[in-house]
This record gives sequence, C-alpha cells and structure tokens, in this order.
Amino acid sequence: MSRLVVVSNRVAVPDAQSATTGGLAVALRDALQTNGGIWFGWSGKTAAHTAEQPTMTEIGPVTYATLDLGRKDYNEYYNGFANRTLWPLFHYRLDLAEFSHQNYTGYLRVNSLFADKLRPLIEDDDQVWVHDYHLIPMGRELRARGVGQAMGFFLHTPFPAMEVLLALPSHALLVESLCAYDVVGFQTENDLRAFRDYVIHEAKGEMLDDQTVRAFGRLVHTEVFPIGIERGQMEAAAEAAVEQGAARRLERTLNNRNLMIGVDRLDYSKGIPERFRSFERFMEQYPAHRGQVSMMQIAPLSRSEVPEYKAIRDQLEGLAGYINGRYGDFDWMPLHYLTKNFQRETLAGFFRLSRVGVVTPLRDGMNLVAKEYVASQDPNYPGVLVLSRFAGAARELDAALLVNPYDHDGVAAALNKGLVMSLEERRERWQSMMEKVRENSLEAWRERFLKVLRSVPTPMPVKG
Ligand code: G6P
Repeated sequence: MSRLVVVSNRVAVPDAQSATTGGLAVALRDALQTNGGIWFGWSGKTAAHTAEQPTMTEIGPVTYATLDLGRKDYNEYYNGFANRTLWPLFHYRLDLAEFSHQNYTGYLRVNSLFADKLRPLIEDDDQVWVHDYHLIPMGRELRARGVGQAMGFFLHTPFPAMEVLLALPSHALLVESLCAYDVVGFQTENDLRAFRDYVIHEAKGEMLDDQTVRAFGRLVHTEVFPIGIERGQMEAAAEAAVEQGAARRLERTLNNRNLMIGVDRLDYSKGIPERFRSFERFMEQYPAHRGQVSMMQIAPLSRSEVPEYKAIRDQLEGLAGYINGRYGDFDWMPLHYLTKNFQRETLAGFFRLSRVGVVTPLRDGMNLVAKEYVASQDPNYPGVLVLSRFAGAARELDAALLVNPYDHDGVAAALNKGLVMSLEERRERWQSMMEKVRENSLEAWRERFLKVLRSVPTPMPVKG
C-alpha cells in the first residue's frame, strides 16, 4: 500500500495534551498510521518571517511537517484571501468579500512556497490528498514541480453557485486549479452541481459520464463525499460525560428547566445573530415557555484578527444583553452566551442534557455539530434537532426540524415544536437521523475518498 500525504492549512501535531484533537485530525491520523505518511501544512504559529524549512515531528510511521507563517504571509494568505475573500464568497456573503490583489498574490505565494517545501518529501507512489479552500492552487503547483501521481482535493466548505463565483476576479484560475487534481470531492450534490455548472457554462468543459468532467485539458473525477463524525465516539463520550462534573453542574443549575443549545465557532456564516432574533421571537410568541427554558450559545472565538469577525462579536454582545435585559428575571436568564471553548467530551454531555439542539447556519459545508448533537442523545429520551436547510447536513438529517434561518417566525415555531414534541415522535426522528450518522461516519468518508483516489488512472488521461 502506498503512503498517504495529507496537506491542509492547519496541522494538528499530536502531543501529550491532545485530548481535544478534532475528529478530522483523528480520522486522517488513522489512515496515516496504517500505511505511514506525511501531514504537511501551517503550524498555527506566526513568526517575523515564514520558516525556511518545515519542522519535522515524527510520531511512529507519521511525519508531521509544519511551517510557521511570517506576519505578511499570515495576513495576506490566511486572514486575507482565504478568510476575507474565499470564505465569505463560498458562503454566499458577497457583501463581506474583499477583493485585494495584494492578498491574492500572497495566497498564490504561500501555495507556491508550500509546494516548494513539500515537493522533496513526496515519493512517486504516495497518495496526495489536499484539503480545503486555503490550498486550491496546491495541486497545480505540485504538478508544475513534476508530481505525476493521482492527487485528490476535498472542499470542506460549500462551492458557490456560478453567478456568485463569477464575482471573484480570479475565478477562472481558481477553477482551473481545481481541475489540476484527479479527484475533487464535495460535501453535497448542491456543491457538485454548482461546480459542474461553472465548468460547463463558463469554462466550456463537458461531462463525459456521471462523474468525469473534461475541462482545461484534463479529466477530473468529481463526486460527493459527505463528511461524518467518528463512529461511536460521541455516543460513548456523552454517556460518560453526563456523570461528570460539568454536565452534573449544568443539570443542577437548570433546576428542571429545559435547555436549548447552540455550539458554533464565532463566525457570521453560522447565523448566530439571526438565531438570537428567532429566540427573541420565540419568547415573544410563546410566553408559556418564559422562565421554563434557557438557550445556551457557546461560540468560541475564531479568526479574531479579521475585522468581520470582530464586528459579529460586538453585535452578539449587544443582542445577548438586550434579550436578557428584556426577558430575564431575578432568578432566570433566558440566554447564556459564552465565547469559552469546551472539550468535545464536555460538549457531548451538554448536548445530551439539551432538549433542543439549534444548528441554524446561513450556509455551511456540512456542520458536524448537527451530527454530534444527534450522536450524543440518550436513545430512550432523545432531544430534537432544529437544523438549517442551508447546512450540508440537512441533506442527510432530513428527519430534523428543518428551518430557514432567515425566517424568525418559522424558527421560533420550530423551537416551540421541539419543546412540546411527543417522546414517540422524538424517538422516531432520532432513530432515522442516527442511522445516517452511523452510515456516513468519518471513517467511511475517508475510506470512500481514498478508494476512489486509488482507482483513478494516474494521471487521468485527456481523451480526444
Ligand atoms: C472550517 C474550515 C476548516 C478550518 C476550520 C477552523 O471548518 O473548513 O478548514 O480549519 O473552519 O477555522 P480556522 O481558520 O481556525 O482554521
């Protein structure tokens, strides 16, 4: 079996305190450990200048090769083009997208520099798997340096509709770069359709069969691979966590009241202000619940140096204060808003105690919190998931209460419905969702992608 080379913007180098390592890190690490391999990317640290050589950390058969980014690269590539241009654009927020040639140049420069540093580490029969919007040009850069084998790319975010993508001045090169890979994976049919739409209508490409796209002189296998969560991990964590300190204390403070919970990175794509507005509407329209239910919103800070993230933080602080001031009482707070980060195991316990999980992004590639909420429930007394139809997860979790997050009245009604739903209906909906969560696990996702990557002709020939 060939080695695996994983490339992602952030690399989670495991250490003694790696208890909080995310699911993706664990899933990829398993694959790396089986056949040996390399995980290459940014260390998450900044320095005056970008490191000349990657820091190599060998743990068993896996080598973590990480680079510290210089301030200029960090600002232009990560804060700039990746998170002020591509992120808002891919999440349909053209109003927030900033188009700066300087940041774009920085994005290309860091991709090219990463390729320079990675190239000598790649062997001929390695499988190369690149992740996410930060590194779209990576495949093209590696090809230019003579990497001939199959390369795969997975986009964790949505791929925007053609008309939205066309607003990006460098849209053509971006899509051409995607076509330098042999396998390009998306979260949902919607994303795949948007990509094909662009290729056919804008790039004069064509579909050779259901999955093969011909464009920019190459053949590319395109497919939907919905990402999942680790099989069994959240279930076990939730069961254990309800017996432990934090969940116990939370249960005590609830004092038999119901809890609704939202957990999201503090990001405008997550629809948190809209969620707060809907919660306010719910308080207004269903007064019987006042004093009987609280909403806890956990929103750890993210990308704090990007101005749009500072703005959303200010907005949420204002809104949370306003709602609590208006509806709170001396012995009850309707909204608990925390920017503190919790371990996944602790969150699993919180999810299990919550009658309603509120996952209402305005746009989301998949949203694993939705799946984690489902997996954390007590099968006998499951809670209800209120889920945005604009999250990739809504495709699979169609037994959730699906909502339009812009429709505050509709979300308020769903919150009420979740609270009053019969146990029988809760169980039915939960069982249907849990089947999907188990079926499309993180392990299944990884194996499906790697199987396809192994099976495409390398590199895919360009016919006729
Ligand atoms: C999203 C992206 C990931 C990213 C994560 C956290 O899920 O798809 O690529 O790692 O957000 O964002 P950050 O900027 O902190 O890496």
